[in-house]
Amino acid sequence: MSKNKVNIKSKSEILIMRESGKILAYVLNLLSQKIIPGISGDEIEEIAKKEIKKYNVIPSFLNYKTHEGGIPFPARVCFSVNDEIVHGFPYGKIIKEGDIVSIDIGIKYKGFHSDSAVTVGAGKVNSKANKLIKITKESLYKGIDQVKIGNRVGDLGFAIQNYAEKNGFSVVRDLVGHGVGRSIHEAPEIPNFGNKNNGLKLREGMVFAIEPMINEGSYYIRYDDDQWTIRTKDGKLSAHFEHTVAVTKDSCIILTELS
Ligand code: CO
Repeated sequence: MSKNKVNIKSKSEILIMRESGKILAYVLNLLSQKIIPGISGDEIEEIAKKEIKKYNVIPSFLNYKTHEGGIPFPARVCFSVNDEIVHGFPYGKIIKEGDIVSIDIGIKYKGFHSDSAVTVGAGKVNSKANKLIKITKESLYKGIDQVKIGNRVGDLGFAIQNYAEKNGFSVVRDLVGHGVGRSIHEAPEIPNFGNKNNGLKLREGMVFAIEPMINEGSYYIRYDDDQWTIRTKDGKLSAHFEHTVAVTKDSCIILTELS
C-alpha cells in the first residue's frame, strides 16, 4: 500500500474511532487538570500509565520511532513546557507557577488510534502566555470549521494561519497534522498554513488530526540532543492544541471531544 494513500474510514470504523477519542478525551482532560505548580512530568506520566491500563488501550507514542533505527519515544505522554513546542519528555520536569504545558497523547483502541493535545497554564500565567493559549485553541476551531466535503486541505491551513498571524503570532512550518487510523500517522499531511482552494479535496470518511503549533515569536524550531524535543529557536513560548476529526456526509465529527 502506498504511503501517500488516504485511507477512507467506513461509518462503523468512525464509530469505533469516536469511542477511542472519548477515552482519550477523558484521560487528557484528567491530566490537564493536574497541571498545577509543583506537579512533575513523572507524576503526569504515571497517571497516564494508570488510566491507559484501566481502559485497556494501547499508548500510541510509547516506543514510537520516526524512522528505522531512530530513538524510540520513551513515554506515553508528550510533555512540552514553555519554549518546547512538541515531543518533550515528561521525565525530570517540575512545573513552576506561570509555566505553560502542552500535553499530547495518543491511544489505540480496537485497532484505531486517536490523537489529541492541549496546552494549559500552571497557576497564574502572564497575559501574553494566556493570549497565546487562547488564540492557539481558537485557531484549531477555525481549522475545524473548514472541515466539510469539497473544501480543501489548504482551506484549513489558511484559516488557522490567518487567525494566528492576525493576532501577532506565528505558525510552525516544520510540523504538520496528519491522517489517523490503523496507524497513528497516515496520509494526508494537514499543514497549519496554506492557501484557500489549494491542496487535497476533503472526502467523506477521511479522518485526520489538526494540530496547530503556534509561537509567540518566530516560527523557526530547533531540536534538542535527545533527538525528540523540539523547541522554538528564539526561546519564546509555544502552544499546541489538537483534535482528531472525521469528515462526514453533512459536516464533521470531533472524535476526541469529551462529549
Ligand atoms: Co498528532
